[in-house]
Amino acid sequence: MVDGHPIELVTLTNAAGVEITAITYGAIITSWKVPDRAGQMADIVLGFDDPAAYVKANAPYLGAVVGRYGNRIGNAQFALDGRTYKLAANNGVNHLHGGTRGFDKVLWNAETQKTVDGVAVAFTRTSADGEEGYPGTLKVRVTYTLTNKNELIVSYEATTDKPTVVNLTQHTYFNLAGQGTGDILGHELRLNADRYTPVDKTLIPTGELAPVEGTPFDFRKPTRIGARINSEHPQIQFGLGYDHNWVLARSSEDLSLAADVYEPTSGRTLQVSTTEPGVQFYAGNFLDGSVTGKSGHVYKHRYGFCLETQHFPDSPNKPQFPSTTLRPGETYRSRTVFRTGVK
Ligand code: GLA
Repeated sequence: MVDGHPIELVTLTNAAGVEITAITYGAIITSWKVPDRAGQMADIVLGFDDPAAYVKANAPYLGAVVGRYGNRIGNAQFALDGRTYKLAANNGVNHLHGGTRGFDKVLWNAETQKTVDGVAVAFTRTSADGEEGYPGTLKVRVTYTLTNKNELIVSYEATTDKPTVVNLTQHTYFNLAGQGTGDILGHELRLNADRYTPVDKTLIPTGELAPVEGTPFDFRKPTRIGARINSEHPQIQFGLGYDHNWVLARSSEDLSLAADVYEPTSGRTLQVSTTEPGVQFYAGNFLDGSVTGKSGHVYKHRYGFCLETQHFPDSPNKPQFPSTTLRPGETYRSRTVFRTGVK
């Protein structure tokens, strides 16, 4: 129970036997079962068997929708139209992932739908004016659609009654070999990005867009996640590994490729496309074995990775970054497609 209401669970299945479950708490994706190259099914996302465990465990955003603002806002404040808004400082002096009770820690309404694309569940909620310090009543809708092409389409929509900032993302931790089976360092990753946003030691972007060339951030060719993750590069030291925003190479605001991942032992692949300008690639550096997840699996250091499509961290304080401002009368729209397969 959350705020006196039960947590509901929704299951989406397609013709290929892919099965995704999600719950109304945090709009969390709790399981995602896909075949390997031999047809063997495994659950490729970290999480808990019991929905109630997400409320108790204070899990680090496992599977959740993150908002009102994904990633950090420096000094937990921003100015908009000449007014300064103070947000919850829940990550040192900074604001992280929407605050102390962000969109990942509240109940959403769920409605299942059949669409032309596949089976879907729409999660909706209203974030009150002033919630976690943000201005404006924000009406939010996040739809998960599972298609027969083994895609999960995540589409986000939001409207406001006062100028505000919005940056929604999905914080699923993947392990394509199967959740809890080991670390993700052997996965091969390609990121469609020539640049990234370097950060200070509190993980706030400096404002610069730096070339990846010649650095451990160059994933333009498929590279093992573990190949350079312990490098001496100062940016790797700040992130304790990869925990950075890549600036996606794209020619329009339409859906374009963000990332390709391949896990050699199972043959499973994941392709991520998005309308967003950036992706936070986080290698599970803060997982430390303190969370016991599904089937009793202990989630140790780097047992999962996240590809959080997004606008860049701290955009409300960085006028040179693409804007995250949403005004009354406008509709925030964002779309990310996760496609699983084998090779
Ligand atoms: C994001 C952040 C990380 C961390 C994880 C969850 O990726 O950038 O610093 O908060 O989420 O632990």
